[in-house]
Amino acid sequence: MLTSRVAQKFQEIFASNGALLVRSPGRVNLIGEHTDYNNGFVLPAAVDKTISLAIERRSDDELHLFAMDLGQSYRGPIRPPLTPSALHWPNYILGIVEQLQERGFTIGGFNCVFAGDIPLGAGMSSSAALENAVIFAINRLFELGLDPMTMVRLSQKAENEFVGLQCGIMDMFASMFGRKEQVIRLDCQSLEYTYFPFKAPGLRILLLDTQVEHSLASSEYNVRRQQCEAGVKLVQRHHPAVKSLRDVTLEMLAAHVAPVDELVWRRCSFVVEENERVLSGTEDLLRGDLAAFGEKMYASHEGLSHKYEVSCAESDWLVGQVKGVAGVIGARQMGGGFGGCTINLVKAEVIDGLVARIAPEYKRVMNRDLKWYIGQIEDGTSVV
Ligand code: GLA
Repeated sequence: MLTSRVAQKFQEIFASNGALLVRSPGRVNLIGEHTDYNNGFVLPAAVDKTISLAIERRSDDELHLFAMDLGQSYRGPIRPPLTPSALHWPNYILGIVEQLQERGFTIGGFNCVFAGDIPLGAGMSSSAALENAVIFAINRLFELGLDPMTMVRLSQKAENEFVGLQCGIMDMFASMFGRKEQVIRLDCQSLEYTYFPFKAPGLRILLLDTQVEHSLASSEYNVRRQQCEAGVKLVQRHHPAVKSLRDVTLEMLAAHVAPVDELVWRRCSFVVEENERVLSGTEDLLRGDLAAFGEKMYASHEGLSHKYEVSCAESDWLVGQVKGVAGVIGARQMGGGFGGCTINLVKAEVIDGLVARIAPEYKRVMNRDLKWYIGQIEDGTSVV
């Protein structure tokens, strides 16, 4: 098991059995993409792919870190100012330390070993899982008394400010607040959230991994965010009370954005429509109308592909291959985009046949190996 491997490695490196062990999951998102940073709605869940971490206080002010999957170590002082590391992965940890220091918490040095089985670059939020694991562990270790939502916000700020990706709150939230067999609808404006049971007999979440590694920070992600802000500014000229795309209607966009900037209109109308799909999609789930929910997933993909333009040939192809197949309820690209996974709601009994058919074709057409995972919905960040 992942956690025991991490604990054993910690013991090997630091000659101590006393480490605190924390696990923090990756996430899936059923629907509601690129809505979180627009104050909209999302419908994620934590999954059974995790980061496991072992951590213990040091008696000095040093950080000694070891990333097991990469076989890389990092050592440095914990006192500010912290400087980003060229290794990249330490920045998720340093970013958390910086956020805590900026809020006036004095924390001492620590030793830390971590490993994970969340596929990297697959849109399943391995970075949020790591940030949450770190802040959750430090909170315990140094008895900081932070509540879960504060930890989520600090993880997000660490990513925004230290790593440099202007991501929203969804990934950290889902990883921290996940609950077994429940999806969570989060209102990213008020931060109110509701759990919905997600347990239909024989229903599975199948993730098809394009193996196109998305590199969000260097990609168009931050550009999309700016385009949404540009749309809000155009609407605000006529509706000064509008604060975000959450307050914007398709009519406002048609009147005030479409005539000025067609591209910005397309981006913003996707977001407004996607919010609507989350709200009506949760109603479908509550009624048990999976077919209607599945249609919304396909519509979400259409929008991601043509209006928001964050998909890629591989994920378009994968969604095209499953659409209309008996036992497939819905599919769409998941996460930030430009690769990563498609999320497919499917009946358990069709999975083997589906994958056996698609994988060789994917290799032939896209010249890439297809990977797939079945996502089980699990609890959020916790001490092991
Ligand atoms: C990434 C970001 C999230 C969210 C999604 C798109 O996963 O980290 O905040 O914006 O993309 O829905």
